[in-house]
Amino acid sequence: MSDAGKGLAGVVVADTTKSKVDGENGHLYYVGYTIEDLAANATFEETTFLLWNNRLPSQAELSEFSDTVKAEMEVPAAIIDVMKSLPSNAHPMGVLRTAVSMLGNYDPEADDNSMDANHRKALRLLAKMPTLTAAWARIRKGQEPVAPRKDLGLAANFMYMLNDREPTETEIQAINVYLVLLADHGFNASTFTSRVVTSTDGDIYSAVAAAIGSLKGPKHGGANEAAMKMFMEIGDPAKVDEFFTKRVKGEGYKIMGIGHRVYKAPDPRGGILHVHAKALAESTGNAAWYEVAKRLEDLARADEYFIERKLYANVDYYSSIVLYTVGIEPDMMTCLFAMSRIAGWAAHIIEQWGDNRLIRPKANYTGEINVPWVPLEER
Ligand SMILES: CC(C)(COP(=O)(O)OP(=O)(O)OC[C@H]1O[C@@H](n2cnc3c(N)ncnc32)[C@H](O)[C@@H]1OP(=O)(O)O)[C@@H](O)C(=O)NCCC(=O)NCCS
Repeated sequence: MSDAGKGLAGVVVADTTKSKVDGENGHLYYVGYTIEDLAANATFEETTFLLWNNRLPSQAELSEFSDTVKAEMEVPAAIIDVMKSLPSNAHPMGVLRTAVSMLGNYDPEADDNSMDANHRKALRLLAKMPTLTAAWARIRKGQEPVAPRKDLGLAANFMYMLNDREPTETEIQAINVYLVLLADHGFNASTFTSRVVTSTDGDIYSAVAAAIGSLKGPKHGGANEAAMKMFMEIGDPAKVDEFFTKRVKGEGYKIMGIGHRVYKAPDPRGGILHVHAKALAESTGNAAWYEVAKRLEDLARADEYFIERKLYANVDYYSSIVLYTVGIEPDMMTCLFAMSRIAGWAAHIIEQWGDNRLIRPKANYTGEINVPWVPLEER
């Protein structure tokens, strides 16, 4: 039996100053600031500056940082051409993984691992991932991608490029709060992946491409897409009870967007997003999806099985409603998670570079040894 628990549960692998996940009490801090304060007050750019520099920016620093992001949002035309050649049913996260990997080939600093170059490359990735995501959402429908504008912040620019129209204040705020809330989360699977790649002295594009692959799975970032598809499968608030009895209780179906490796109390991000999902549902007159989600959560929270195991709605549960309400298609949702988590991945990659040692654990071999060799013709 290995020393570490299965799935490395509870194992502490390194120090970090980026975020603290207090899973027992349901709190989350970025560099000491509560997620509630950041969600209420910060832009995504401000939050990213905090994670990368371990302090909040001054007004002048934030303006400079935001301007540099705007200036870096364009992507090489050759990458858009390759995206146009991909099958239109390719999964958006697979496309984003490919496009981010391609970006590395166009960056003359790709293999310069100095601290300054890593900061510059992190900023390029932060700026270009919304452009790639919006471009794919259009390309796959046969629409021309829309170039980023120089006068819009990251959340607004993304919605502009996605829809080719002026974004509304409601859309900008919904996307901004989502990006702030998802920016970092301790040593989650994709962040750990990015640190493992970095620990080999690998470059930031390789680390981020690998992290996107890790985020894609439904046990991690893919849960927002899975949750929205589950709500759509239920289809109607009146059908939730039947779904819970038949599928969840009867067939042991795992409710997507519920449960968490670290939180054994309500996920604080889920609580904030719940409030936003409710407000958005009411203000857009499209309350049905929110009502489906709320009824299902209520049933789970009243059920002995979920109570005993301390299973609560996680960040993906209500965020799927928030994103869907502002027009994000379910299979695009995990790309928005990646657009946010690049802030955390880059923070951790830079932190890993600051005090690097190859991450290389051991395995507990449980097979046989000294097995007699059998020639091919005798097998
Ligand atoms: C997040 C997740 C992968 C955590 O996995 P984990 O820490 O390995 O925990 P486990 O899968 O061992 O779950 C512990 C127990 O709760 C149950 N459980 C966990 N999530 C559940 C869910 N969403 N619905 C029903 N039961 C669930 C498990 O079956 C297990 O029961 P058991 O003790 O009787 O075997 C898991 O909760 C899950 O698959 N949730 C749905 C997907 C999701 O929302 N992922 C996004 C995470 S942010």
